[in-house]
Amino acid sequence: MLQLANVTKRYGNLVAVDGISLEIRRGECFGLLGPNGAGKSTTMSLIAGLRVPDAGSISLDGQSLVAGRADLRLALGLVPQHVALYTELSAEQNLRIFGELYGLRGAELRARIDEALAAVQLTDRRRDLVKTYSGGMARRLNLVAALLHRPKVLLCDEPTVGVDPQSRNAIFEYLERLSREGLTIIYSTHYMEEATRLCSRIGIVDHGKLHALGTLDELLARLPFEEEIRFPADAVTAPFAAALRPHGELTTAENAHRFRPAAAYKLSAFFALAESHGLPGRLFTSQRPTLEAVFLHLTGRSLRE
Ligand SMILES: Nc1ncnc2c1ncn2[C@@H]1O[C@H](COP(=O)(O)OP(=O)(O)O)[C@@H](O)[C@H]1O
Ligand SMILES: [Mg+2]
Repeated sequence: MLQLANVTKRYGNLVAVDGISLEIRRGECFGLLGPNGAGKSTTMSLIAGLRVPDAGSISLDGQSLVAGRADLRLALGLVPQHVALYTELSAEQNLRIFGELYGLRGAELRARIDEALAAVQLTDRRRDLVKTYSGGMARRLNLVAALLHRPKVLLCDEPTVGVDPQSRNAIFEYLERLSREGLTIIYSTHYMEEATRLCSRIGIVDHGKLHALGTLDELLARLPFEEEIRFPADAVTAPFAAALRPHGELTTAENAHRFRPAAAYKLSAFFALAESHGLPGRLFTSQRPTLEAVFLHLTGRSLRE
């Protein structure tokens, strides 16, 4: 449906988006996962037409978006990373301005404003000035402002950063509902938990490059291990750690050890080794790795700063 082919964007000498090619399918929620500075916002702004790529092409249903056709742009809605609202106006007045920009008028506009406010639980605050809103309320309003014209594709650029848990949940539930109803969503985030929960396919980006793309299972399958074993740091003796090292990767983080067995090393062998060092199995928990491990494996860096 939406196609990026070799899209590149530079700011001076810095290559912010470096030859990204991908295709977003109709009705999917596609995640763009990467740390700060990866090029997510630049990619979003290129798709939304706020910036022009230095190279490559972006097309929607086979028609070039870069050519700047206004009718094609109407098919897109962008929720920008930084809240873009008039703080001296009410929620209702803000939505009226956004709706009119998209050519909505009269009863239709009023109905869509009512629907938008209800969808993110702001109906009873509709006449209050946005400057009196919490960060989470402003984020919710920012989200529905991008949907008033009923775009075919919603671009959500880190919509939950700095948001309280209640608003975050409201945003998530609303996006999940929109997704179930068939809206195509591109969701950028540096939180792997969000990408895991919301997105059917995920692209991993860093330094402007797309490092991998796939479903969660496909991405996890790129790891050379299938399970991670965790145990408290104080439960492990130096001889055990030394015996373990040849069989995988042992790391210490947040007062806990984490062992990632090499592909050929069986969990049963691990537990036998632990027993022989007087360490009972109950000290250990084994779990499926996360996207964090995939990111580390592919880029050599951590997602978290
Ligand atoms: N307007 C700009 N001028 C110069 N450099 C920019 C500008 N916007 C972003 N950058 C740089 O481009 C890179 C990608 O930024 P951005 O797309 O905002 O990443 P992300 O959204 O993943 O954090 C970063 O190194 C950032 O500092
Ligand atoms: Mg950004």
